[in-house]
Amino acid sequence: VGTLAEIRADLGDCTRCKLHTLGRRQIVFGVGNPHADLMFVGEAPGSDEDIQGEPFVGRAGQLLTKIIEAIDLTREDVYIANLIKCRPPGNRNPEPDEVAQCEPFLLRQIDRIAPRVIVALGKFAAQALLKTTDPITRIRGREYAYRDAVLIPTYHPAYLLRTPSAKREVWEDMKRVRQLLGH
Ligand code: URA
Repeated sequence: VGTLAEIRADLGDCTRCKLHTLGRRQIVFGVGNPHADLMFVGEAPGSDEDIQGEPFVGRAGQLLTKIIEAIDLTREDVYIANLIKCRPPGNRNPEPDEVAQCEPFLLRQIDRIAPRVIVALGKFAAQALLKTTDPITRIRGREYAYRDAVLIPTYHPAYLLRTPSAKREVWEDMKRVRQLLGH
């Protein structure tokens, strides 16, 4: 698996998928506590993340920070990464070949960090990790054994910005996360 620094070094100046030709400024690897009990997995960097080199720093990211703080943790306590590490043009959805090339690096990050709880944010992360094509509405509301962790799928914070009424379900999911962490 290697250390996080070794996993990052293996990505290098990655050219494995077409996103390297489609305007990405930099690879957005991940951020946070390398020994975190709790890890969040998002979809892909957006424009702000592509500029700053850190996941979830734009508007959805500010909401994610609030979600983390709602269970009395900080961004420094947790680890945050994405399913794919480069920004898709125009923030389009990740394509299957991009996920296929990039996902092994996420899996190595998960194995290295060995979190107790993984929160999959939105359909792309949840479907990829759980190897299912079920819709997120069917996936969420349950918990899954995933490697040595419990995986909790929930709605993506960008979806919550459009659909604030879904925050109630995310709060239910986060209460379960807090319970699993035993904080
Ligand atoms: N949305 C994501 O899924 N990931 C980010 O890093 C930012 C927005």
